[in-house]
Amino acid sequence: MSPRPLIAGNWKMNGLGLDLDEARAIGAAVEQGTFGARVALCPPATLVDRMAQTLMGLPVSVGGQDCSPKAAGAYTGDVSAAMLAEAGARLVILGHSERRAGHGETDALVAAKVLAAISAGLEPIVCVGESLEQRQAGEALSVVASQLAGSIPSSIGDAAFAVAYEPVWAIGTGLTPSLAEIEAVHIALRSGLVQAFGDAGQRVPILYGGSVKAANAAEILAIPEVGGALVGGAALKASDFMPIIAAA
Ligand code: 13P
Repeated sequence: MSPRPLIAGNWKMNGLGLDLDEARAIGAAVEQGTFGARVALCPPATLVDRMAQTLMGLPVSVGGQDCSPKAAGAYTGDVSAAMLAEAGARLVILGHSERRAGHGETDALVAAKVLAAISAGLEPIVCVGESLEQRQAGEALSVVASQLAGSIPSSIGDAAFAVAYEPVWAIGTGLTPSLAEIEAVHIALRSGLVQAFGDAGQRVPILYGGSVKAANAAEILAIPEVGGALVGGAALKASDFMPIIAAA
């Protein structure tokens, strides 16, 4: 049986205390409705604790957007997986393209972060995705397959994790791949997961992310291998996010 789809909101570097009103509204609406999806919100690290308090008892989990591969020590500015977990996070986004591109994160570093997250009891959402140049060169499938193989260590055992396919050129641009293109990448990722993890690889949710909004969510979420969505801009307001949750 496939797991429930996961709809996760990535607030990126957006959100101050006042914006917890939106999280509260999302939590209340998910609580009141009947939705097939699991829902998570990933605020900046400064809001994880307060958002977890805000959503206490409501069916929306909180996640981080990154964590250190290290457990503790002299790493100024970094936040460990255990710190996120203690603040109330249950998940953590890792290897987002904005971190791969803006902070030089390699597959090997992402893999080390995945292990750190799992040891702290967090569920990683591991992001992969090709650039526009790579897609135009016909390399999308090989790029994501190699990111997948390099970013998820085989030693994670049976720990829960998710993968997110986020084509870099579709993030924040309003552009999305065609449904057939999304399906082709998700099929390739599924086959990579099964190759690496056997039967357990069949059950790993593969989310799609990149300009997901109310208007395209239903058709994207209906693609057989799409197991949820990782949503940026449209997850900041309850009025934009709820229709996406309802579409799952
Ligand atoms: P947008 O939904 O704003 O395109 O962002 C996608 C994303 O990067 C989610 O992690």
